[in-house]
Amino acid sequence: MRRLPPVLLEDGCSHDLVSLIRTILAACKEISFRVSQGALSGVLGSTLDENIQGETQKKLDVLSNQLLKDILLESGYVKAIASEEEPDTVAGNPDGQYIVAFDPLDGSSNIDINSLVGTIFSIMQVPKDADANDPNIFLQKGDQQVAAGYVLYGPSTMLALTTGKGTRIFTLDKTHGSFLLTTDFVQVPKTTREFAINASNQRHWEPAMKNYIADLLAGETGPRGENFNMRWIAAMVGDVHRVLTRGGVFTYPADTKNPEKPYKLRLLYEANPMAMLVEQAGGVASTGYERIMDIEPEQIHQRVAVILGSKDEVETCLSYHA
Ligand code: AHG
Ligand code: MN
Ligand code: MN
Repeated sequence: MRRLPPVLLEDGCSHDLVSLIRTILAACKEISFRVSQGALSGVLGSTLDENIQGETQKKLDVLSNQLLKDILLESGYVKAIASEEEPDTVAGNPDGQYIVAFDPLDGSSNIDINSLVGTIFSIMQVPKDADANDPNIFLQKGDQQVAAGYVLYGPSTMLALTTGKGTRIFTLDKTHGSFLLTTDFVQVPKTTREFAINASNQRHWEPAMKNYIADLLAGETGPRGENFNMRWIAAMVGDVHRVLTRGGVFTYPADTKNPEKPYKLRLLYEANPMAMLVEQAGGVASTGYERIMDIEPEQIHQRVAVILGSKDEVETCLSYHA
């Protein structure tokens, strides 16, 4: 099986980009080890702190953030980072040509129940003379990402990665520490009979989403004339991995539960990298009203509605929003 570096070099990625991706993966291997040690490594449970999002930080959120932050800022390749767990961007090497936005640990409510979690990252490029302390360097459309990926800490540790030439899946060989290519050119099936949504928010959704889900739930006696299955992992990495693997629709739509927070998922380090992975695998990623990777970001922690997955089914969902 082929290792990650030669695969990326053959794709035409620069040595610097390959080294940067390997740097991220070095931190992810350490996170993978800590996650797998669970209670033995003393990392379960919460801290007493909240992050900028007003969410209680888990010990593993903080640890994963620190591992990624330290290794990236010391690498020399990175001008600055933006993280879910950091209120502001953090400057690295002023001469670095890359910036990285990341969710150090996605699905952190799953940590204490020994369920799926992962790391999501988005790599963008900036001019050499851009100011490392200027947070606006991160306000790039998803289309400008040079690479995006996630590492899923499941029964096996897997990397989904795109550098704009398709989406590939690598599996961590824990005996040698290498990510080996296990699925080349992932293709999300165009059609599906499976969807993922947190249905407890149903009464707070917009009419379009209420109607779409109602029609799916009506099954073969409803307007769709077919039965649909539902799954919800409560970690976007896990749900998106299922979508990449066997198709489906994953959505975290707008809701009115908290009027100050109509959306849950963050554009720069959740929606954009997942949108790139899904589009590069032939799927679709939208807010319901526009393509996710067309959005001009205004803030580093901005949130968006997300509907992504199998092309035909996402388009059906979008037709309810038209
Ligand atoms: P995070 O743990 O990084 O804050 O992200 C959690 C997100 C996402 O991964 C998941 O799809 C969603 O929150 C789960 O939301 P519910 O708690 O509503 O199920
Ligand atoms: Mn997350
Ligand atoms: Mn997180």
